[in-house]
Amino acid sequence: MDNKVKKIVAISSSPSKGRNSDTMLDHFISGMENYGKDLISVEKFYLDDIYLDHYDYGNRLGPTEKEVDFKNLALKMDKADGIVIATPTYNFSVPASLKNLVDRIRFIALDLDKKNVLGQPVGKFKRHRMFFLVSGGSPKLVQKILFFLFPPFWLRVVFMYYGSFKLNAFYSGDTKSFQNPKILKKCFKKGERFAKRVI
Ligand SMILES: Cc1cc2nc3c(=O)[nH]c(=O)nc-3n(C[C@H](O)[C@H](O)[C@H](O)COP(=O)(O)O)c2cc1C
Repeated sequence: MDNKVKKIVAISSSPSKGRNSDTMLDHFISGMENYGKDLISVEKFYLDDIYLDHYDYGNRLGPTEKEVDFKNLALKMDKADGIVIATPTYNFSVPASLKNLVDRIRFIALDLDKKNVLGQPVGKFKRHRMFFLVSGGSPKLVQKILFFLFPPFWLRVVFMYYGSFKLNAFYSGDTKSFQNPKILKKCFKKGERFAKRVI
């Protein structure tokens, strides 16, 4: 612990505000703030409120002039000690907006001038601790068995590619998670534990 305030970026990527993954994120944030008190600062972003174009060669090096909010988010993600991403499961993956965000942050996440032993660019998210909160319509047991068909797997892989090896996730298969006190309490506890690890 170095007594410096740790910065957490929390991204809610469901288009449905106040529903499952968004509410799970709110409880996770409460848990972080409860544990971290003055040692943690959390900023929440709704991905759907942020304008960003799809990735193309022209915008590969960073946000364009009209992507002001995306520039702010990317800078904060770059400097963050921890990033929490809440997402629903859409067709075995994440919503297109989240996939696009992940594609667009290559300029902060990869050092394209350096190559690792596999000939891949070197990930720059080494300091970042990650947490993925995922809601889905399939029971948790199905997600456990067919883990590779659900976002926690894909998100882990891509953020490992981006350099982070401090990754955890929580999946809820209750389509009424936002009203499920047991799930929301779990998210609160996971938030506390995440804050403890970041601090
Ligand atoms: C377009 C779409 C695709 C979906 N695909 C899946 C899926 O592949 N697997 C799954 O378990 N649930 C799937 N679901 C269910 C959602 O993940 C589930 O309802 C989730 O709780 C929604 O989360 P939210 O309230 O945070 O948006 C899908 C829902 C929608 C609308």
